[in-house]
Amino acid sequence: MSAHFQDWMKSTQQQFEVLLASFLPSTDAIPAKLHEAMRYAALDGGKRVRPLLVYAAGFMFNAPADLLARAAAALEMIHAYSLVHDDMPCMDDDALRRGKPTVHVKYDEATALLVGDALQAQAFLVLAEAQSESSRQVAMLRLLAQAAGSTGMCGGQAIDLASVGVALTVGQLEQMHRLKTGALLRASVIMGAMCGKTLSAAEVAALDAYASAIGLAFQVVDDVLDATADSATLGKTAGKDAADNKPTYVSLLGLEASQALAKKLCDDAHAALLPFGEKAHILRNLADLIVQRKA
Ligand code: IPE
Ligand code: IPE
Ligand code: MG
Ligand code: MG
Ligand code: MG
Repeated sequence: MSAHFQDWMKSTQQQFEVLLASFLPSTDAIPAKLHEAMRYAALDGGKRVRPLLVYAAGFMFNAPADLLARAAAALEMIHAYSLVHDDMPCMDDDALRRGKPTVHVKYDEATALLVGDALQAQAFLVLAEAQSESSRQVAMLRLLAQAAGSTGMCGGQAIDLASVGVALTVGQLEQMHRLKTGALLRASVIMGAMCGKTLSAAEVAALDAYASAIGLAFQVVDDVLDATADSATLGKTAGKDAADNKPTYVSLLGLEASQALAKKLCDDAHAALLPFGEKAHILRNLADLIVQRKA
């Protein structure tokens, strides 16, 4: 990863933090406790991979800054909500997230439920309030809804919960990962690019191939890190998948084959970007980051 990319990532993350804060309800507004908990869940933490993908894809097509910021914030709000609910006792029952106590531990379960609900609504509000061509905006709202819902992230989470202790085939595991994690990452890439222009079928196909590869790679690496990293590095409880008897790439293929798969998916992602040439260099670096990350 080049120094130029590292600088870009740092400054994008910093700018995004300020923008995300501005798109969340103020703690001065009623109900203050819910707003405080929403901000606790969404701000000050996380790698911001989905916003980075939105910005990287948007820059390839000269997307306007306000629309990009709103798309990035919407994706991160849906993601943050998914983490809050994922950590609840009825799902993975985790006490640590982004190096802090999880929302239901810091506040309570009802608040965690409402934080997730409200962050999801806020995501659609932020996108709906953009000043943009209405047809583009509706297409983006539709994409976000599909990626978040029962045929996207929620669907993947449902399969995940139904699969505890179940011996899935590699195909079934892949489908679960593509939904629970891949769907929002794909939406990040496509929505970022859509902020800039109406995409041709060939552009959508190339971006789709890239997003599909990094989307799966991201969860394969998440499974690997769960088995190999420590809680302090991850900012979440390590070793949780094995403890909970979750089917993962590590439990199904083993560590080495999982790492090799992530590497192959990274190569696939690079290959998919070839038609875009040099202007896709940030997306290329992001694929490397997703596979080489340590947390
Ligand atoms: C964790 O996502 C949950 C998965 C979808 C695998 P991230 O690894 O992107 O979590 P943050 O946003 O950096 O905390
Ligand atoms: C969760 O997957 C993916 C989501 C949709 C939140 P995990 O349960 O593996 O995520 P972590 O490991 O808790 O971050
Ligand atoms: Mg989970
Ligand atoms: Mg979890
Ligand atoms: Mg995990």
